[in-house]
Amino acid sequence: MLVEPNTPLQSYNSFGISAKALKLVRVHTEADVYAVVADETLRSQPKFVLGGGSNIVLTGDVKPLVLKVEIKGMRLVEETDKAWVVEAAAGEKWHDLVAWTLDNDWPGLENMALIPGSVGASPVQNIGAYGVELQDRFHSLDAVDLTTGQTFSLNAAQCAFGYRDSVFKHESSGPNGLGLAGKALITRVRFLLRKDWKPVLGYLDLERKMAETGISNPTAQQIFEWVCAIRKAKLPDPAVIGNAGSFFKNPTVTQDQCDDIIAREPKVVHYLLDDGRIKLAAGWLIDACGWKGKTVGNAGVYEKQALVLVNVGGKEHPCTGGEVMTLARAIQTSVYERFGIRLEPEPGVV
Ligand code: EPU
Repeated sequence: MLVEPNTPLQSYNSFGISAKALKLVRVHTEADVYAVVADETLRSQPKFVLGGGSNIVLTGDVKPLVLKVEIKGMRLVEETDKAWVVEAAAGEKWHDLVAWTLDNDWPGLENMALIPGSVGASPVQNIGAYGVELQDRFHSLDAVDLTTGQTFSLNAAQCAFGYRDSVFKHESSGPNGLGLAGKALITRVRFLLRKDWKPVLGYLDLERKMAETGISNPTAQQIFEWVCAIRKAKLPDPAVIGNAGSFFKNPTVTQDQCDDIIAREPKVVHYLLDDGRIKLAAGWLIDACGWKGKTVGNAGVYEKQALVLVNVGGKEHPCTGGEVMTLARAIQTSVYERFGIRLEPEPGVV
């Protein structure tokens, strides 16, 4: 195990923010984690697990020990007459897993194509897109307890998935005080891909593709290609313009609150949820406040999608985490003043 001092993190976070890890250990196998936990000095240090770095804002050099997850490998674990169970190591790129399963004719992950980030980070915020969330395809995961060095597995119920939420986002959660933020490193994730696959097409952008192409019963590969095209048209490629995907979660309100907003703002984009609450499109709220294209220093609001904050300074003059957070707070204030809605950021602030 090698402890690297002062490692630049600019190419390890999708915003392209310039910051250093004071100490960094690359995790290639479970044994690397065991070695960290067994080490007298490292054992007691606070730790920060870094995956693809696509959902973080770095506001300065990272003082906790950075564990950069680079465990690789994907395999079919089991095939029954009903499903395939596939496993991917945490350091694999999420999109590579999606493409690999489809190449093998195992459908199910296609709606989540092109989501940036690593497999290990995917359960942390229960990634989702175009009507499918990770929890809909999740089987189980393995992780290592960063205090004891013990390996453990969790099923979906134990992960306590919610909208962009899981047990890994909470210091402690629920009455039993179970929360794993900063306490565990996810090493492998398994997915259950059912053989009675049906396309998930309820999302407006996909309905448009069906109308455009005249294809009403697409294959998984077809949906994969549509989702890639939709995302490329709408969302900035982090390799070209630094960003962390949607910067805020879509807020939910009660029917009464929604009626109140509609009375003042008839065009507000909203969707009815299964539990009777209403989800509002945060991107629409921010757009309505006139934020598209606005900047604070080198942090800006993406021109084509107001929900995405971007690094307008590129690699040479990157935005700072402070600029991103100042911009984010200004957006929160203006949305609150106009709509009475408090927007919650999606990425973790480090
Ligand atoms: N809208 C605007 N102006 C904008 C942005 C959006 O009017 O600047 C309107 C759109 O026209 C649309 C509505 O707001 O009617 C919703 O926008 P969109 O369909 O682009 O989806 P979203 O709510 O912005 C969510 C996820 C995305 C995911 C897409 C597709 C969240 C926070 N975001 O975006 O996830 O890809 O749906 O399912 O839930 C991510 O988490 O990083 C992410 C990209």
